[in-house]
Amino acid sequence: MIRKKGQTFHLETPHTSLVLKADTAEVLYYGKKLSNAAGCELWSGSPRKLFSQYGGADYTEASILLENADGGFSTAFAFSKSKLLAGKPEIAGLPSSYGESKTLELKYVDAPTKAALYLYYTVFDDTDVIAVSAKLVNGQKREMHIRRLASLQLDLMGAYSVVTFEGTWARERQKQVRTVGKSVFYIDSKKGISSHEHNPFMMVEGEDGVYAFNLVYTGNHKEIVEGCESGRTRVLTGINDFMFRWALAPGEEFCTPEAVMCYAPDEDGASSEMHAFVAEHIVRGKWKKRERPVLVNNWEGTYFDFNEEKILAIARAAKETGVELFVLDDGWFGNRCDDRRGLGDWYDNVEKTGGGLKSLADKIRALGLDFGIWVEPEMINEDSDLFRAHPGFAMRVPGREPTRMRNQLCLNLADEKVQNYVVRVISDVIARSGASYVKWDYNRSLTDCYGKGIAQGEYFHRYILGYYRIVSRITKKFPNVLFEGCAGGGGRFDLGNFCFFQQYWTSDDTDARMRLKIQDGTLHGYPQTVMGAHVSACPNHQTGDSNPLETRFNIACGGVLGYELDMTKFSPEEMETVTRQIAFYKENRKLLQFGDSYRLGDAFGGNVAGFMTVSKDKSAAIAVVTVSEYVIAGEYLSVRCKGLLPNAVYEVSTRPQDNYKDVLSFTAAGDLLMNGGMPVADIFEDTQAWQNSRRLYTRMYLFKKCK
Ligand code: DGJ
Repeated sequence: MIRKKGQTFHLETPHTSLVLKADTAEVLYYGKKLSNAAGCELWSGSPRKLFSQYGGADYTEASILLENADGGFSTAFAFSKSKLLAGKPEIAGLPSSYGESKTLELKYVDAPTKAALYLYYTVFDDTDVIAVSAKLVNGQKREMHIRRLASLQLDLMGAYSVVTFEGTWARERQKQVRTVGKSVFYIDSKKGISSHEHNPFMMVEGEDGVYAFNLVYTGNHKEIVEGCESGRTRVLTGINDFMFRWALAPGEEFCTPEAVMCYAPDEDGASSEMHAFVAEHIVRGKWKKRERPVLVNNWEGTYFDFNEEKILAIARAAKETGVELFVLDDGWFGNRCDDRRGLGDWYDNVEKTGGGLKSLADKIRALGLDFGIWVEPEMINEDSDLFRAHPGFAMRVPGREPTRMRNQLCLNLADEKVQNYVVRVISDVIARSGASYVKWDYNRSLTDCYGKGIAQGEYFHRYILGYYRIVSRITKKFPNVLFEGCAGGGGRFDLGNFCFFQQYWTSDDTDARMRLKIQDGTLHGYPQTVMGAHVSACPNHQTGDSNPLETRFNIACGGVLGYELDMTKFSPEEMETVTRQIAFYKENRKLLQFGDSYRLGDAFGGNVAGFMTVSKDKSAAIAVVTVSEYVIAGEYLSVRCKGLLPNAVYEVSTRPQDNYKDVLSFTAAGDLLMNGGMPVADIFEDTQAWQNSRRLYTRMYLFKKCK
């Protein structure tokens, strides 16, 4: 709901209010819902603005920087008009959130250049998340250049810490907390992708509560938080201005990606808001609310070394355990015997697939499994027929040796010819295999950004526009297919991708101890429904550590469950365990995949952590409690549950696990479990486990409301 009084707008969400004064471009209030906006104008004159520019007395990081036709950088955008729109305007060429909504459009004009700046604020009825974006229109007869145009500016009053999710390959989204003070803090990506290093999701926390931000964008992004002497803390998010210089011809417009923000009193509240928003307003299509199949993926089971016989043997074993979907990973096409060759040659390798992709897929389907296929459409090996036929498809700077990462080059997706080629060949792979699931991989970052006729300062964004055109066309063509994104694990885990892919491979690191942190970090901003989580072999291929099969399963239940190993290598006992696990998972899948998910304990600093998923009516819940270290004569351990009904009584029992002979069961009130906590002292009963110092201890608790 948006209420208007003069040029003051009160944007209401179920639990928050954002009050803006359009004519002076000020934020008057953002936070807990106001009964009404009376008195907000008292805040007019404070230094909180809706946008900022070079050329005035504001020396804080600015949301807009334009290079005018005369070479100057100064602008003085002044209020022109405001408008209330039913729904939310499309953002040309870019994915964005959707759903029943209302939008406030504000227009500001820079008189000398006639440039018009539009700001959009969209509210939905069922979420506290507000979508914000900007548009610039060149109203003069000469070309101008955009050097920076943030999607969102939010000015707050007070002192804040910033919580970001940083890492690298196999260690994505590790939580970092820093005090901003009177300094400038920023994170960004220059890799052409949202990156393993700096996820665009961020929380800004102060005495007044938690403000969470994310960007619906897959390319280079930048988030800036700056505190200044006036007591203002400015938050900016948008396309990175690194190497960015976008030419705007007379009459042309440029739309920023959409940013989203919410306010909540605490981190858990902000996470819950973001989870619900992503699940309802970002993820789309047939699989949006559909239970996701339990899959087996052959990558860590075989790597490139497989043939038809091996694949069918894994599929048979998988079928016995209750797996529903077989995913054939890298190595099934062209001359792809290792990672030095074949990328781009999306025709069948008959030696490895037997009678070809369709024949292998049919055989797998005949076993009673669905078939899924791996592709990496944006890449090319120089040792490939594609490169030999079309060397110009590869992205490289003429006269320079290209940087090779994982022995491959990127395709020049900024070129429409290349876009059309990718759509054609990848559509053919999906159609001829009849795949019901596609894993869309991306295994290097952009370097050598260059395309003939494309201005350098525009390249990164043009690549992403090309990428969106491709995924949008392919996902529309195959509306029944479940798409899982992947970028060397979780290197492009962002809301732009979730507008096309219903889930994403969270990380290449499948070690339970590492995964706990990666999934916990991720869960701050994204729901469990979008996180691919697999049980893999031990010793773990990334860390060399070993954890019981039950521990690996418990952790993988924090996302969408899969297995990624050679199931023919299981002992009969392990086959039984996995069969029991999958049966349990299917029985509780709706709750595990679509319940309200909470983080428990402290995965980044404490000994006790885990996660908990609660049904919408709060009558059932599942918690996985983890202890990272066995400490002799250590503290008495307990964990505070979350999301339960305070005044209900729950029967609690542990899932029977191979590594715990006893099954615990007790009855406790919801408020006791949440406020007093639940003791977990008996987690060390697995006495052999504490001899292995790198082992993670986990137990799964089931809650049923009985009163
Ligand atoms: C990286 C992915 O993250 C892995 O799961 C696997 O698909 C490999 N690429 C295949 O090359």
